[in-house]
Amino acid sequence: MDWGMANRLSKIIRPKNGRCVMLAVDHGYFLGPTEKLEVPQKTIQPLLPHIDSIMLTRGVLRTSLPPISDVPIVLRVSGATSIIGNDLSNESIITSFEDAIRLNVSCLALSIFVGSKYEHQTLANLATLVDNGERYGIPILAVTAVGKEMVRDARYLGLASRIAGELGAHVVKTYYCENFEKVIEGCPVPVIIAGGKKLAKEKDVLELTFNAINDGASGVDMGRNIWQSDHPVAMLKAVRSIVHQGFTIQEASDLLVKEKKIEEINTVVVKENKI
Ligand code: 5RP
Repeated sequence: MDWGMANRLSKIIRPKNGRCVMLAVDHGYFLGPTEKLEVPQKTIQPLLPHIDSIMLTRGVLRTSLPPISDVPIVLRVSGATSIIGNDLSNESIITSFEDAIRLNVSCLALSIFVGSKYEHQTLANLATLVDNGERYGIPILAVTAVGKEMVRDARYLGLASRIAGELGAHVVKTYYCENFEKVIEGCPVPVIIAGGKKLAKEKDVLELTFNAINDGASGVDMGRNIWQSDHPVAMLKAVRSIVHQGFTIQEASDLLVKEKKIEEINTVVVKENKI
C-alpha cells in the first residue's frame, strides 16, 4: 500500500488497535433536516473531541466545521436522491475527486444498494471510486444500504459486504445482525457498523456496540443513537469506551451514568454563561 493511502487509512482505522469511532452526520443528504441534526454545527461541535473521524457531505463540511479542525474527514460522495423521490437506490457520484482533494479528506464514502433496481449503477460507482481512490491514495468506505424489501440478515449483509470488499472498498459499513461473525468472516476488509434508528434504551446501544466488536467489527460509524440521545456526549464516550478500551456493557453503562451527570452540569454552565 502506498504511503498516502496507508497514512489516510490510519486516520480512519487506528493502527494501535485496529479500531474506529466515526461519527455519522450525513443523514441530511437524502433526509433533509433530520431530528436533532437540524443545525449540524450545533450537533457536531460538542462531539468533536471524542471521535476519530466524521462522515458528512461537502455542504455540511464547508458550512459547519471550522477549517482549523484536525478531525479526519470521511466525505460522503454518493447521493442525488431524496426520501420523497422515486427510488433511493438511484444514486450518482455527487462530488469530484478534485473537490475531495481540495477538502483534504481522509476517506470517501458511498452507498451501494445490492439487490435493488440500481444495483449495477451503485456497484459501478464503487468500482470507479476505487480506481480513483487508488490513483490518488484515498481510501473508499462502502456503505451497504438496505432497501425496504431486503432482510437485514447475515446472508444479505454478508453478500453485500463481500461484494464491496471484492470491488476494492477499503472499509465496509454495514448493520449488525444475528450471526454477524459470518459477515465479518466473509469480508476481506475491516467492517464497521451503523447504529440505525434510535434504539429504545440506552443500554441497547451499548449492547449493540459490544456485540459487534465482540463478533469482529472494527468499530462504529454511528449517528442517530449518539446525537438523538438526550446526552450525546455521554453516550459517545460510553460507546467509545467499548470500542477503544474494551469496556464491558456494565462498565460502559456505569461510565454513561457518570458522564450524563457531567454533561448535565456542563449544559447548565454553558446556558448560564451563554457560551
Ligand atoms: C446513511 C448513512 C448513515 O451515515 C448511517 O446510517 C449511520 O447513521 P446511523 O447510525 O444513524 O444509522 O450512511 O446511508
